[in-house]
Amino acid sequence: MKFKTALMSATVFAACMFGSAQAAELVVGFSQIGSESGWRAAETTVTKEEAKKRGIDLKFADAQQKQENQIKAIRSFIAQGVNAILLAPVVETGWDAVLKEAKEADIPVILLDRTIKAPEDLYLTAVTSDQVHEGKVAGDWLVKTVADKKCNIVELQGTTGSSPAIARKKGFEEAIAGKSNFKIVRSQTGDFTRTKGKEVMESFLKAENGGKDICALYAHNDDMAVGGIQAIKEAGLKPGKDILVVSIDSVPDIFKAMEAGEANATVELTPNMAGPAFDALDAYLKDKKAPAKWIQTESKLYTQADDPKKVYESKKGLGY
Ligand code: AHR
Repeated sequence: MKFKTALMSATVFAACMFGSAQAAELVVGFSQIGSESGWRAAETTVTKEEAKKRGIDLKFADAQQKQENQIKAIRSFIAQGVNAILLAPVVETGWDAVLKEAKEADIPVILLDRTIKAPEDLYLTAVTSDQVHEGKVAGDWLVKTVADKKCNIVELQGTTGSSPAIARKKGFEEAIAGKSNFKIVRSQTGDFTRTKGKEVMESFLKAENGGKDICALYAHNDDMAVGGIQAIKEAGLKPGKDILVVSIDSVPDIFKAMEAGEANATVELTPNMAGPAFDALDAYLKDKKAPAKWIQTESKLYTQADDPKKVYESKKGLGY
């Protein structure tokens, strides 16, 4: 994938002569999924902050969870002649045509936080976590914690067709595979939102003897877990004790729940995907060297033993 050479030389030259504040301004379009979770809102904040810090003119488009809106936004960015596009893709498939248009216009596209099923030459790089690994970390924690006891699990899945929903399910299933005391008895999408997470958990509780037959809740993100926790409390049970709760993201509210003993473990996903993305873009513009196809972010496990309040305090300023 080539890039607009004239602009690149101007940017690099101006940056060398005057420092980045005086550099020719890069214009980057950002097609964001929406604001379904605390994590997503933090990613938006961090991306805007990172762009500002680097003197990038960021054109922001909120797709309200709809792929068609993302496709429209990308086409509009192409028409405006932006220098690069950040795309947080709501689902895995259906991107080929629009990404080919960006490629033909010589506009590099960087994927943020979710992956897609498309030929690799259609995007510059993807900044994401290993989402299968995240699910595996959550599952391994549960297996270790519950050990030999019988454990019926209910699962709140993320948005149907999205890479984290598919991969986090797969990773968790890998962790419990071959362990006959662990069984996923209910699994449904909660669309990564708190409201839907609560609603679906209510139906799980009703279907499973008021929750008495449930040993653990595995939620593909913290917001759904927080909704689930509320439902468990309203059903007269103790989340974190009667029903173990493990989820992914590490947003402040899950640490508050962990501090109260109502959540047990969370796998961290950094909301700062834009930092590595802009670094890769910058290096690409300077050296014309394509970055690695995958820039992987960390997936750290936190439990109640990690002093939730302290961890939460340390996260302030990360878009939360
Ligand atoms: O793609 C990352 C996921 O999207 C986050 O884990 C979830 O909170 C968000 O909606």
